[in-house]
Amino acid sequence: MKEFPQSFLWGGATAANQIEGAWSTDGKGVTTADLQPHGVMGKMEARIPGKENIKDTAIDFYHRYPEDIALFAEMGFTCLRVSIAWARIFPLGDEREPNESGLAFYDRLFDELSTAGITPLVTLSHYEMPYGLVENYGGWANRSVIGYFEHYAKTVFTRYQHKVKLWLTFNEINMSLHAPFTGVGLSENSNKGEVYQAIHHQLVASARAVRACHHIVPDAKIGNMLLGGLVYPLSCHPQDMLQALQENRSWIFFGDVQARGAYPGYMQRFFREQAINIEITDHDKQDLQHTIDFISFSYYMTGCVSHDETINKNAQGNILNMIPNPNLKGSEWGWQIDPTGLRILMNQLWDRYQKPLFIVENGLGARDSIEPDGTIQDNYRIQYLNDHLVQVSEAIEDGVEVMGYTSWGPIDLVSASHSQMSKRYGFIYVDRDDNGLGTLSRIRKQSFYWYAEVIRSRGLSLKRNCE
Ligand code: BG6
Repeated sequence: MKEFPQSFLWGGATAANQIEGAWSTDGKGVTTADLQPHGVMGKMEARIPGKENIKDTAIDFYHRYPEDIALFAEMGFTCLRVSIAWARIFPLGDEREPNESGLAFYDRLFDELSTAGITPLVTLSHYEMPYGLVENYGGWANRSVIGYFEHYAKTVFTRYQHKVKLWLTFNEINMSLHAPFTGVGLSENSNKGEVYQAIHHQLVASARAVRACHHIVPDAKIGNMLLGGLVYPLSCHPQDMLQALQENRSWIFFGDVQARGAYPGYMQRFFREQAINIEITDHDKQDLQHTIDFISFSYYMTGCVSHDETINKNAQGNILNMIPNPNLKGSEWGWQIDPTGLRILMNQLWDRYQKPLFIVENGLGARDSIEPDGTIQDNYRIQYLNDHLVQVSEAIEDGVEVMGYTSWGPIDLVSASHSQMSKRYGFIYVDRDDNGLGTLSRIRKQSFYWYAEVIRSRGLSLKRNCE
């Protein structure tokens, strides 16, 4: 193995609604995430008075962050990805004045990180928004939400300008087509045109946040955040190749807009042929020209597509329906494990944009068990992470510029898709089950010591034993 670059950031990634808990503490408003007790794949449900949802407490990071940050520091983290819960700052979303208690919480969090020598990487919106903006405005379908988001972004850039120098706009912005309530606050029954219009508003909001960040914190960098969806053709049939190209474009066009500043020609054709008429003003076009500084993305799996509709229709997935690749094995949750795909994707993104990349999510969701001696032997997780990091190293050798790597869920947290605790990603175990039972105490897993050594050795301890 070659050493990773000195400047490479190492750490983990989290999201407010999956770790913080304290769902109604210190003036926080209700978010879309608070209304999805069964996760992103569940429907929106009204809260039942007196009934707790698992994310209401999550892993209680809101109160336990000093202890958790100390554990991250013990592993040698140089970076932690967190998100700000927009509704802690603007409880309904449309207020002029921010909620001081919410702002103060993130001040304490960033101060703690600074003391621990950990650089914060902050997502402005990770799969949640104030529910007030859905109830009173119809979510991102309403153009005025752009302005409320911009006001929120400017507020936090101003407040944390001396504490946060790395920002991301919307988490997995390209997921909205598949999870519209989570992504853009629209009902699952919305038609394509409505969803694309809402997505357009979010893309404009993202660009305006970029402009504001550059203006308010000139020495900061701001990136987008894409679900790194890589789709292979099921065969080398030219029609399968074309199908894969089109499928990949349906994911990547968000990145094209955010990195290049305009809708690509293939999307204009798509809108034309699908009779989707989006309102894009001249002002929007100017706003979109404020492009991101770097590309960030999540990477968990790959899948295949075929031009044969009967094969495609039978594909079963979790959030996405992709055809399983016969050459790959899946995780317990059916996510197909493909370390080489990460190298391919990184090369593709670099070739396409020539902007630095940041892998801000990657990891294995698995059930862990505690041995009689109290240890947690999560070798499967070590194997997964090792093999992916080896491919990151390969991509760096290929000439790809990479800013860092934050594995998903460095401490067990509530999973996004189905709100489970049993789907664990962490180096640190949290004693809590799917019913919310447990002491919330933290236990170091085997992978904790493994990752600490990877960071200490700057990757030299990784093993090329994967494929
Ligand atoms: C990403 C999300 O899609 O995948 C995270 O940004 C999420 O919020 C992660 O937790 C893993 O998915 P899941 O469903 O296993 O939690």
